[in-house]
Amino acid sequence: MGEERFVSPAYLEEDAAEASLRPQSLGEFPGQRAVKAQLEIAVAAALQRGEALDHVLLQGPPGLGKTTLAQIVAREMGVGLRVTAGPAIERPGDLAAILTQLQPRDVLFVDEIHRLSRPVEEILYPAMEDGALDLVVGRGPGARALRLDLPPFTLVGATTRSGLLTSPLRDRFGLILRLELYAAEELEAIVRRTARVLGVEVEPQAARELARRSRGTPRIANRLVRRVRDFAQVHGNGRIDLETARAALDLLDIDPLGLDAFDRRLIRLIALQHGGGPVGLETLAAALGEEPDTIEDVCEPYLLQIGFLARTPRGREVTGAALRHLGLVPAREARNP
Ligand SMILES: Nc1ncnc2c1ncn2[C@@H]1O[C@H](COP(=O)(O)OP(=O)(O)OP(=O)(O)O)[C@@H](O)[C@H]1O
Ligand SMILES: [Mg+2]
Repeated sequence: MGEERFVSPAYLEEDAAEASLRPQSLGEFPGQRAVKAQLEIAVAAALQRGEALDHVLLQGPPGLGKTTLAQIVAREMGVGLRVTAGPAIERPGDLAAILTQLQPRDVLFVDEIHRLSRPVEEILYPAMEDGALDLVVGRGPGARALRLDLPPFTLVGATTRSGLLTSPLRDRFGLILRLELYAAEELEAIVRRTARVLGVEVEPQAARELARRSRGTPRIANRLVRRVRDFAQVHGNGRIDLETARAALDLLDIDPLGLDAFDRRLIRLIALQHGGGPVGLETLAAALGEEPDTIEDVCEPYLLQIGFLARTPRGREVTGAALRHLGLVPAREARNP
C-alpha cells in the first residue's frame, strides 16, 4: 500500500483549497465543544489581564482542526501568528532566532511538536517557563552562560501522537486539549457550511449521507463535498441530492460507513487470518505493507470510534459489528449455529 487513500485524514495535495474553508472564529467553529469552552475562557481571561495566553497543546488525529484552532486563537487574541513545525527546526539556534523575533504576546504555532529534536526542545523549556533564552557564549574554558529575556509569547503545539511527547515538555503547557472525532450532526453542519462557501446546493439528506461517510473528520467531509460537487456538475444538474451523493461515493469506493478498501483489508486480515485477533500492530502493518504509525493515526481512530476494532494489551481485535458489516460470520456463530 503506501499510496494516498481518498479517505485519509492526512493532508493531501487536493486539499490545497481547504485554507479558504477554515472557520475564522471560535463562534464559527462547529464541534469540539469542550475544547472551545476552555479556549474561550482562557482567551477572555488573558485579554482582560492584557497578558499572553497560556501555552496550549492541541492533540488528536489528523484533519480535526488543530491548525485551524491555532489560527483562530491568534486572531481572537489579536496577535501575530508565527507558524513552524518540529522537523523544520533543525538546530537550537533556529528556534532561538524565531523566539527573539516574536512580538509581545504573539502565538508561535509548532506543528508536529513531538518531532522536535532534544537539543531544540531544551531551548523551549526555559522559554516556556521563564520567558528566557539560555545561551552559551564562546567556546571551551572561556564559555559562559547567558540568559536573555524574551517577549511574552504563547506556544501552541499540535501533535497527532501525544504519547510521543516528553513529559517535561507536556508539563509546560497550561492547557492540554484533546480533539475528538466529530459527531455526525457536527459533520453535517460542516458539510452544509462548506457547500455554502463553495456555492453549491446540497439537499439535507445528501448532507447527512456525506457526513456519515466522513469518518468523523472535517478534512474528509470537505474533500467529499468537493468531489461530489464535481460529480453533480458533470452527471447531474449541479445540485447535490442523495442519489448523486451516493453515486459519487460509490464511485470513490467509500462504503456507507466511510470505510475504504484498506479498512476492509485490515478487518478481513484480522478476521480471516488471525481468528478475529488479538494480533499485534507490527504484524498487521507488515502484512498490509503500511507503516504502523499510519495505521495507528489514520486508520484506527475511526474504526475504534464506530466499534469495529478493539485495542487490547495483546493486540487488535475485530468486533462482531465489523464482521457483520463486511458480511463475514463471527467465528463463534459459525461454530455453534
Ligand atoms: N470544526 C471545523 N469546522 C469546519 N471545518 C473544519 C473544522 N475543523 C477542521 N476543519 C477543516 O478541516 C481541514 C483540516 O483542518 P486542520 O488543518 O485544522 O486540521 P489539523 O488537525 O491541523 O490536521 P493535521 O493533523 O493534518 O495537521 C481544514 O480545511 C479546515 O477548514
Ligand atoms: Mg495541522
